[in-house]
Amino acid sequence: MSVDGHIIAGGAGFIAQTLIRRLLLAGDSVLVIDNLSRGQEVFLKDFINSDRFDFKVADCSDESAVEVAIKSVRSPETFNRIWHLAANSDIPAGIANPGIDLKDTFLTTFALLKLAKARNIANFHFASSSAIYGDLGDRAVDEDIGPLRPISNYGAMKLASEAQIRAAVESFLPRADIFRFPNVIGVPATHGVIVDFVRKLKSTPDQLVVLGNGTQRKPYLHADDLVDAMIFIANTARDPFNVFNIGPRDQGVTVQFIAEAVRDRVAPHCEIVYGEGDRGWVGDVPRFKYSTDRIAALGWTPRLGSREAVVRAVDEVARQEGFG
Ligand SMILES: NC(=O)c1ccc[n+]([C@@H]2O[C@H](COP(=O)([O-])OP(=O)(O)OC[C@H]3O[C@@H](n4cnc5c(N)ncnc54)[C@H](O)[C@@H]3O)[C@@H](O)[C@H]2O)c1
Repeated sequence: MSVDGHIIAGGAGFIAQTLIRRLLLAGDSVLVIDNLSRGQEVFLKDFINSDRFDFKVADCSDESAVEVAIKSVRSPETFNRIWHLAANSDIPAGIANPGIDLKDTFLTTFALLKLAKARNIANFHFASSSAIYGDLGDRAVDEDIGPLRPISNYGAMKLASEAQIRAAVESFLPRADIFRFPNVIGVPATHGVIVDFVRKLKSTPDQLVVLGNGTQRKPYLHADDLVDAMIFIANTARDPFNVFNIGPRDQGVTVQFIAEAVRDRVAPHCEIVYGEGDRGWVGDVPRFKYSTDRIAALGWTPRLGSREAVVRAVDEVARQEGFG
């Protein structure tokens, strides 16, 4: 990629930190726009002194607020890429109140696409999710499988966002990439199974209560590998509209494996207490076969498999939460 100007929507969240670091290292400029609903300004402390970095607090579902944010930076005309990472990342919260997913996941896409059109921003990179596939049981999940029936409102709003982006490519947007992420782990952890377990053990060190019976099996990818893949696709894929599953070359690890890894790192003497059934919560997909053949054919493979990624992330999150 030549020197680019990037807008990162949702840039104060977890995954964006690795992306910002990579883009600044490449010599590019970055504008983060985030409403701080789930991200934190402190995550940006390493970047804030760079003259190629800006941070503005704004709600990305509010097109005029985003426009004001962009106009207030030094060279607003230099942006040629939008990375749309803003979303409600809390699936149970969206099931309790679907309006959260509507605003933070769908209407952010709507507003950012309008922005791309108004400002002639040619490249739109979207953080989608394996949640769009729903519960397909043992069917191998490749990018062209269908019909898609998400089982969470989060997945539904991601799928609807993908559809909007596809339509935008037909009408005005020169280039869009849809990245379908698996479970992504690493730091700074804002949500997800590892940080949940570590925090539970912080408050009750003798017992780790697990939602579900621990048999749920999912692929896990470290954020370093994920961002590597996103940048690789942005640089390498050639079609105007690209859809890629990003994930490890394995079928994942069980929740039991993660619970034991957290126990071993944080509280070796604690008892693990499992719940019932193979779903942690409504909208939880117990297992799926995730095909990453398309990105492998493009020439990218992750450095870490699910097991290695979990072991590394457990250590990183334990340190983040104060376990030396
Ligand atoms: N972490 C994962 O395992 C995973 C898996 C699949 C997809 N994704 C997607 O990747 C993206 C980044 O995820 P993450 O794990 O870093 O989550 P995160 O919650 O840490 O980051 C999301 C960021 O978006 C911001 N945001 C939310 N609504 C906003 C709005 N209306 N306006 C402006 N900012 C808003 C939040 O404040 C937060 O900083 C999300 O779109 C998420 O759905 C993540």
